[in-house]
Amino acid sequence: MTETKLIDRFNRNLNYLRLSITDRCNMGCIYCVPKDLVPKLSHQDILTYEEILRLVRICVNLGINKVRVTGGEPLVRKGVYQFLKELNRVGGIKDVALTTNGVLLYDNIQKIKSAGIKRLNISLDTLKKEKFREITGVDRLGEVWKGIMKAWEMGFSPIKINVVALSHVNEDEFIDFADLSFSYPFHIRFIEHMPIGESRMKNTDPLLITDIKKKISTMGKLVSVDKESSDGPAERYKFEGAKGEIGFIGAISQHFCESCNRLRLTASGQLRPCLLSDINEDLKIKIRAGCSDEEITETILKAVAQKPSTHSLLEDEKISVSSQMSSIGG
Ligand code: 5AD
Repeated sequence: MTETKLIDRFNRNLNYLRLSITDRCNMGCIYCVPKDLVPKLSHQDILTYEEILRLVRICVNLGINKVRVTGGEPLVRKGVYQFLKELNRVGGIKDVALTTNGVLLYDNIQKIKSAGIKRLNISLDTLKKEKFREITGVDRLGEVWKGIMKAWEMGFSPIKINVVALSHVNEDEFIDFADLSFSYPFHIRFIEHMPIGESRMKNTDPLLITDIKKKISTMGKLVSVDKESSDGPAERYKFEGAKGEIGFIGAISQHFCESCNRLRLTASGQLRPCLLSDINEDLKIKIRAGCSDEEITETILKAVAQKPSTHSLLEDEKISVSSQMSSIGG
């Protein structure tokens, strides 16, 4: 029997675990990678797949029923497809999803499907070849697009495209992105850029959901789509006559802390109760010290007990999150 022990001080039921399985990535996006490269974790610093699966099983026993695999870029880690298969076999998980930058999607889509993944989120911030290279440092837009098309043909559903709204970088493309929802059944999700860790992004005023809505409002009427209980923080809409949806994730302007149901496990085994706080509990130390499931459970509950009620991205001039997004996985 699954228990629901992961209720925090503010009565939020944490049932969603995001697993970053590597801090490595085959891209180096301007809003993610700092000017001075941070050293990557060494092999022994990251949790083995066996360790991750053990922690997942413990979490599932405590009420986690939705898991998302992230990175870095998760598909660069060796053995990932077998891992995804085993993760899908853990009883009690209703939903295993994957977030990827899409570069390795085309070549590996069959393995992803065979592993039982149905839900894909693909990070894509531009549809222009040259700009893609400027944002990511690599010239691989063609591969990403081929991968998305293949995933669509193979029936992955939903396919969500995450577009981080970057001032002066991709704001001229919001209409093109929104337009994709007329041709394909994709969910195009505009995400407010959060200033986390160090990055090469210039400090400009953030583009907020209201700005983005204004920019695409010329395309038609956005009709709101009812939320489902399993939905994340996206506000869902659809243009009349469109196949796909438009989503807005207002991490800054419309924060969704009061309904946040997430815990995050980093590749190095830190359990973080909040993306925007450096509070964490070290599960790797516990697991490698030979702790029992009960002892690890206690540490998980300690992390849950520290989950802050809210973050203060809007109020504070300076955000206090020093960890890199590449190690937390978004
Ligand atoms: N702000 C907002 N979204 C971000 N992502 C990565 N870094 C940031 C940031 N600083 C997005 C990625 C990915 C998702 C997990 O988080 O685009 O799709």
